[in-house]
Amino acid sequence: KAIKVFAPATVANVSCGYDVLGFAVNAPGDEVIMQLNDSGKVTLESITGDDGRLPRDPARNTVSAVVINYLQALGVEQGISIELHKKMPFGSGLGSSAASAVAGLIGINELMGAPLSREQLLPFAMEGERLACGNAHADNVAPALIGGLVLIRSYNPLDVVKLPVPASLACALVYPHVEIQTKEARQILKTHIPLHDAVTQWGNVAGLVAGFCMNDLGLISRSMQDVVIEPVRAMLIPYFYELKEIALHQQALGFGISGSGPSVFALCTGLQTAQRVVDAISARLSEAGIQSTTFVSEI
Ligand code: HSE
Repeated sequence: KAIKVFAPATVANVSCGYDVLGFAVNAPGDEVIMQLNDSGKVTLESITGDDGRLPRDPARNTVSAVVINYLQALGVEQGISIELHKKMPFGSGLGSSAASAVAGLIGINELMGAPLSREQLLPFAMEGERLACGNAHADNVAPALIGGLVLIRSYNPLDVVKLPVPASLACALVYPHVEIQTKEARQILKTHIPLHDAVTQWGNVAGLVAGFCMNDLGLISRSMQDVVIEPVRAMLIPYFYELKEIALHQQALGFGISGSGPSVFALCTGLQTAQRVVDAISARLSEAGIQSTTFVSEI
């Protein structure tokens, strides 16, 4: 018995919602092919699309590590062979480790007869994130698992809320070819926030969520401001503030860092605007000698 699963890239944080907001895009993503066997072991048969850079040890690669944990939790000794086809860049801020973990978990869960719901798979996927970057954040794995835009209202206890998204919303994504490790991009963050900045930030998070729920594009646009994380991480991303100006000039509703970067994203009304935004941004990067890959997607 074999199964092929696709799990999508995700945009975590959505500007002001560090670790609490994320949404899935249609593409890119990861593809996993899994097969039951009677070896009693989880094996990584092949990995493509990673230039040989991801761990080959099944206990250290997120796609297989989460499967091992899942089988242990179920108390099952089942042989599984896994093929991972990375169809998206990693170290890119697009939730690559999350896509692998989620594809692996959906695959094994289906092969075992779907005993767990998507929500029940979430803690296993979060452990995959801990393995990948040292922290079990859910803002990539939750939208990769359940789709759409997701709010992680609380981590303890875990409380995950799927939010509505205005039908016209599209996402522009540009991945400049520089690598940032999530672990390092988390370590540079300040651990204390002045109360004044906290008030601004939670006003924006609340405004953004309200904007999505009320279909209010103006409110979404006004709320896409991050005064806590972006000012620190912007320095890791070439020409960040110039790229933001370019995106807003092309009528993007808002612009920010995708996850821990270096990818940047913009929310736009319609795919055409999103395409104009990615074209303008990648042209600016290429002028500066930086190659980039672009994606546009409905949300
Ligand atoms: N919320 C996480 C961070 C997402 O910003 O570090 C990482 O993709």
